[in-house]
Amino acid sequence: MSVTLNKIKTYEGGKSNIPGKKNIIKLSSNESPFGPSRKVLKAIKQASKKTNRYPNSDSLDLKKNISKRYKVPSKNIFVGNGSDEILGLLCQLFLSKNDEVIIPKHSFLMYEIYASINNAKIKYSNVNDYSFIVDDIIKKVTNKTKIIFIAQPNNPTGIYLDRKNLSKLLKKIPKRIMVVIDAAYSEFINNSDYTDGLNLVVKNRNIIVTHTFSKIYGLASLRLGWCAAPERIINLLDRIRGPFNVNQIAQVAGSAALSDFNYERKVIRHNTIWLKKFKNELAKLPVKVYDSQANFIFIKVRNTTKLNKYLLSNGIIVRTLDNYEIFDCLRISIGTTSENKKFLNLIKKFFENG
Ligand SMILES: Cc1ncc(COP(=O)(O)O)c(C=O)c1O
Repeated sequence: MSVTLNKIKTYEGGKSNIPGKKNIIKLSSNESPFGPSRKVLKAIKQASKKTNRYPNSDSLDLKKNISKRYKVPSKNIFVGNGSDEILGLLCQLFLSKNDEVIIPKHSFLMYEIYASINNAKIKYSNVNDYSFIVDDIIKKVTNKTKIIFIAQPNNPTGIYLDRKNLSKLLKKIPKRIMVVIDAAYSEFINNSDYTDGLNLVVKNRNIIVTHTFSKIYGLASLRLGWCAAPERIINLLDRIRGPFNVNQIAQVAGSAALSDFNYERKVIRHNTIWLKKFKNELAKLPVKVYDSQANFIFIKVRNTTKLNKYLLSNGIIVRTLDNYEIFDCLRISIGTTSENKKFLNLIKKFFENG
């Protein structure tokens, strides 16, 4: 490995505690504020009795359930230990020294970390007030480009490429370049101009779509993600993964979560209501509110440090974005009703008190 490891950023997740404070409200990691459904807990309890046995190596039942739910053939599905693992495996598969990847500026940090680990050079495409610029992504393509990462919607902004622009990008770039569409938050979106591109995977040889159980399904701790990809790529991923990369508890919890559609609908409804409320209420304050479409909101504030300190002193953790080279914005996850109310009251008070 010729990579200089000490040059690679380490990923820092959202903070989980505030020294000296109890009962904190964590709105920093875009997790589900709800526990898993009763159905999922029951499945977990059942599976926990068999932890002496290795898990199903191919996640077969889970793949079948994902296939049914997302309408992708099982042979085009790969399951991983979080979508994180899959992003890493894809970089391992496609990248070597002197290869290039294109990542829009201010996007999910793991893309550049995994690309760097595999010695690739990163080209950042420009954004316009955090919106991806398709023409600039296309302009950055060279004959060394191997992967383009599109977070759809992006973390930390919650902004996505609309259907027209995504399709323009996919049409214009050479088919030898893999396009990884990361749809970690797609289940929260119901807009007609949104697509995660899943329906394009089977017909194209260069489109990969990643999904996760960490967000809508509330299983972040179990580490479970999946991707849809051309069969050839699924076979290659199967060769380089660990033999038991997904534990059995995660596999059965994932299947149970997929079957609990009422619970999922409830989570989506809560998110839709609160995302709208956050946007309306925050728009009344001296902040710029972006049209985030996910389980979080992205805002521009004049004094992020002061506001962040104020929120921390009141037990609320939101996400500062220095790691993303964004210094004047914060990302706030949607919490439970009482957490959201407390956050909104506090931020209002912060601005009232000047
Ligand atoms: C855009 C994006 N992709 C992928 C992930 C990682 O998800 P997982 O928990 O499945 O590894 C996250 C987590 O925050 C994310 O925001």
